[in-house]
Amino acid sequence: MKKCFTLILLLLSFSEFSTAQKPVQESSGFYQFLSDDPNQKSFFSDRKGVLAKNGMVASAHPEASRVGVEILQAGGNAIDAAIAVQFALAVVHPSAGNIAGGGFLVYRDQSGKTSSIDFREKAPEKGHADMYLDKDGNIIKNASTLGRLASGIPGSVDGMAEAHQKFGKLPWKTLLQPAIDLAEKGVIQTEREARGLNAIKKDLLQLNPDTRYFQKEDGSEWITGDRLVQNDLAKVLKSIQKKGREGFYSGKVAKQLVKDINRNQEGIITRNDLKSYHSKSRETISETYKNYNVITMAPPSSGGIALVQLLRLTEPFPLKKWGWHSDSATQVMIEAERRVYADRAKFLGDPDFIKIPAKNLMDNSYLESRWQTFSWDRASDSKLISSGEITGYESMETTHFSVVDKDGNAVSVTTTLNGSYGSRVVVKGGGYLMNNEMDDFSIKPGTPNMYGLIGNKANAIAPGKRMLSSMTPTIIEKDGKLLMVVGTPGGSTIITSVYQTIVNVIEHGMTMQQAVNALKFHHQWLPDKTTFEANAFSENTIRRLQDKGFILEQQRNTIGRMDCILVTPDGWLEGGSDPRGDDTSVGY
Ligand code: GLY
Repeated sequence: MKKCFTLILLLLSFSEFSTAQKPVQESSGFYQFLSDDPNQKSFFSDRKGVLAKNGMVASAHPEASRVGVEILQAGGNAIDAAIAVQFALAVVHPSAGNIAGGGFLVYRDQSGKTSSIDFREKAPEKGHADMYLDKDGNIIKNASTLGRLASGIPGSVDGMAEAHQKFGKLPWKTLLQPAIDLAEKGVIQTEREARGLNAIKKDLLQLNPDTRYFQKEDGSEWITGDRLVQNDLAKVLKSIQKKGREGFYSGKVAKQLVKDINRNQEGIITRNDLKSYHSKSRETISETYKNYNVITMAPPSSGGIALVQLLRLTEPFPLKKWGWHSDSATQVMIEAERRVYADRAKFLGDPDFIKIPAKNLMDNSYLESRWQTFSWDRASDSKLISSGEITGYESMETTHFSVVDKDGNAVSVTTTLNGSYGSRVVVKGGGYLMNNEMDDFSIKPGTPNMYGLIGNKANAIAPGKRMLSSMTPTIIEKDGKLLMVVGTPGGSTIITSVYQTIVNVIEHGMTMQQAVNALKFHHQWLPDKTTFEANAFSENTIRRLQDKGFILEQQRNTIGRMDCILVTPDGWLEGGSDPRGDDTSVGY
C-alpha cells in the first residue's frame, strides 16, 4: 500500500511539472495524413508533449528525468544533467542504463559550437577475429551474447568523466549523488521494469550462481511497486564519485570486475584493458538538409552518416505533398533505407582501424546515382542494390536521453549494454551488469548470424577496436538556431526511427510528441522486407506496395523508444517521450 502511495506521489509530482504549461498545439490537418484512411489511427498513443521554458530532460525513466531536471534547477548545465541522468539510468533502468556499457554523446553549446564524445566499448587486448569460432570455424552459440566472453571494455564512466572535465559546471560529486541515493533508498519498479527482471531470472542464476543480484530476497517474482535496493552498486558509484574515472578503471572496483570476468577463465578483460581504456572526442558530422543543419555522430556510429544519407536521398521528393505514410512517400523512404543500409554494411566500421569515405557517402551526386536503380513500378531487389557485404546485427535494447538547459545548451546521448541486461553477468561485489557489446562486431565475416545477417570484414574484431554501432544521437539546427534533440534505442531500427521522427516534424509539421507517437516502419536492405508497427499503413497502401513486389511484415513489437526535445517557434521546449516505454519528459 505504502509502495503504491509513493508511486502515485511520484507520478503526481511529474504531472505538476507538465501541467500549468502552455498546451501543445495540434498541427492543422494532421489527422488527414494517412492518405487513404483518415480514420485510421496513425499514432501509438494520443500522449501530449510536455512544455517548459527553462529546461527539459527526456529519458526512458521518470526518476532519471527528474534527476536531470533537479540538476538543471540546481544551476547545472545540460552536460551536468546528462551525466547525472546517465548514472541514474544505471540504477533505475538496468536493462540498458549502465556504468559498464558504452555510448555516444553529441553536444551543441548555446553559441552553436558542437562536439561529441565516443565512449563506445573496445575489444579487449586478448580479443581476436575468430574468438567466437570453434576449431572447425563454426560460431559458438551464445558466446558473443551471454556470459563473460561477451563483454567489451566498458566506456561509460570514462565518457562521463571526459564530458564533465570538458564542459561540466557543477562538482562531479553532486552529479553522482542522485544515483547513489536511488541505489541506496531503492527504486520503485514499474510494471515494465519488473517484467524485465523476471524474464532474466534464469540467466542470472545460471551465470551468477553465488550471488542474488536483481532478485527478491524471498525468491518471488517482482511486481509493480516493489522496491529494488542496490547497495553494492551504491558502493561502486561512491568510488566513482570520490575518484572519478579511476574509481572504476583502477583499484578495488577494477579488481572486482577483472576477477569476476575471468572466473574459470570464462572472459578475457584485463586490468590493463581497463587502465588503458579512454573515450575519444570526435568531430561531429555536421551536414545540411534544406535549411536545417544535422549535427550527429561520426563512426564508429553508422547512424550519423546513414541519417544524412536518408534525409538527402528523399530531399528531392515532395514528401509533405504526398502525405504521411502515403504510397509514394513510403515507397521512396523504403527504397532510400534499402540503399543506405547496403552502404552501411560495406563501408562502415571503426575509423581508427579502417578508412571510411564519409564525405563521398553523403555527397549529393553520389546519392543521386543511388536512385539509378529505382523504379516506381517495382520494388528494387536488395541483391542487385549492392554486392557489398552485410553488417553485423545490433540488438534492440539501448537507451537514449535528450537534455536542453535554460541557456540553450543541448545534449543528445545514446548509451547501451547492447542486449537487454547485456551479458547478464553481474559483477560480484559490484552489483552492476556487464555489456555484451562484442556481438556488435561481425563474429564471422561472410556467414549469417542468428538473425540471418552476414558480417563484414570492416567490422571484424581486433584488439582495441570499437564495434560498429547504429546509435544516432542527433541535434538539428534551423537557420543556425537549436531546433531539435533526438535519439532512440532499437538496434538497426535506430537510424530509421530517428530519420522518420525528423521527417515527421520537418516535413509533416508534427509536434515533437506527435512525431514520437507516430507509427514507424523499417527496412535495412537485408533481409529484404519492410517491418512496420500495427496500423502504420492503410490496407490499401499495403496492398498496392505488395502489388509492386514489396514484402511488408507487421511487427508484433513496437519500433523505437524516442526521447526528444523540440524548440517551438515561440521559444518553448517541448519534450516528446515515447509512450511505448516508461519514458518521461520533465521540464521546468
Ligand atoms: N548495441 C546497439 C548499437 O550500438 O547500435
